[in-house]
Amino acid sequence: MYLLEVVASAPGKVILFGEHFVVYGEPAVVMAIDKRAYVLAESRKDRRIYINSKNLGISGIFVGESFEPKKGGREARMKLEPIRKAAQKVLNLAERKIGISIEVRSAIPIAVGLGSSAAVVTATATAVSKLLSANLSKKDIFRIAYEAEQIVHGTPSGIDPTISTYGGTLLFSQDKGFEPLEVKGDIPLVIGDTHIERSTGEQVAIVRERKKQYPSIFDPIVEAGGKISLQAVKALERGDLQELGELMNINQALLSAVGVSNESLERLIYAARKAGALGAKLTGGGGGGCIIALSPPEKLEQVAEAIEQAGGTAFIARKTSEGARVEN
Ligand code: MEV
Repeated sequence: MYLLEVVASAPGKVILFGEHFVVYGEPAVVMAIDKRAYVLAESRKDRRIYINSKNLGISGIFVGESFEPKKGGREARMKLEPIRKAAQKVLNLAERKIGISIEVRSAIPIAVGLGSSAAVVTATATAVSKLLSANLSKKDIFRIAYEAEQIVHGTPSGIDPTISTYGGTLLFSQDKGFEPLEVKGDIPLVIGDTHIERSTGEQVAIVRERKKQYPSIFDPIVEAGGKISLQAVKALERGDLQELGELMNINQALLSAVGVSNESLERLIYAARKAGALGAKLTGGGGGGCIIALSPPEKLEQVAEAIEQAGGTAFIARKTSEGARVEN
């Protein structure tokens, strides 16, 4: 007995410490947030894959290798391809020859370093797996999401699909995988969005080029980035917000040194610090995108307001332990 429709969701994330340095094998600390991507998957009698992204305002039908755009023109294909890949991989694993209609609705801002694309493909793999009773493990879901997302704007390290799949707060490294972290109390964060969209791939390339040019200077910076993450693990266990804030500020200085900060980010970071944040840094790829500001709980509103006055959009984020899940 097969299901006719399934809704699944997966969370976005913030990198608390260690973005970019993680690409060179250092550990990073990543936290799932209470903003999720939702995917509705329905079976179809034909062999087509229809995808409608409410957020991007695009839709189209994949018939074998060809694509018929419905909304958003031919460029829609590139953006929808990772979703199709995720659905197709599950269909292949389940050895089912049916079609699927997919509708995406996400509460995660797009292309600003909060892991929206990974959350969408992870939720897609989860929904289609349940629809086809494929019984895939979290590890299978992660692998499918990782491979599907690699095509367009994949995170080279795999940090985004990992946190979207498993949720919680994780210490992540490319060779050792991830380890769930003990976190004492709340991590009161304000996220500030610069509204500058950027590509993670381009930011990773900036760091790679600079590192090639100045290896003896860059290697210790990358290593220091990893040490910050390890020190942060202890501060998270103790719930030491003061120390976490200081570590964020040091981490931000290193990210600026490797070339991924800019004036829009720094403006929001300084506004947040001046309004009472314990620490603030960019999060994700940089070059635009978002900052995170760790704030005493009683100053969250004040910090959010300062970020808005400095030209950003601010929202308060909470950690969530829930990774990818079926909703119905
Ligand atoms: C992007 O969310 C994080 C980066 O470290 C890239 C990666 O880990 O693949 C910049």
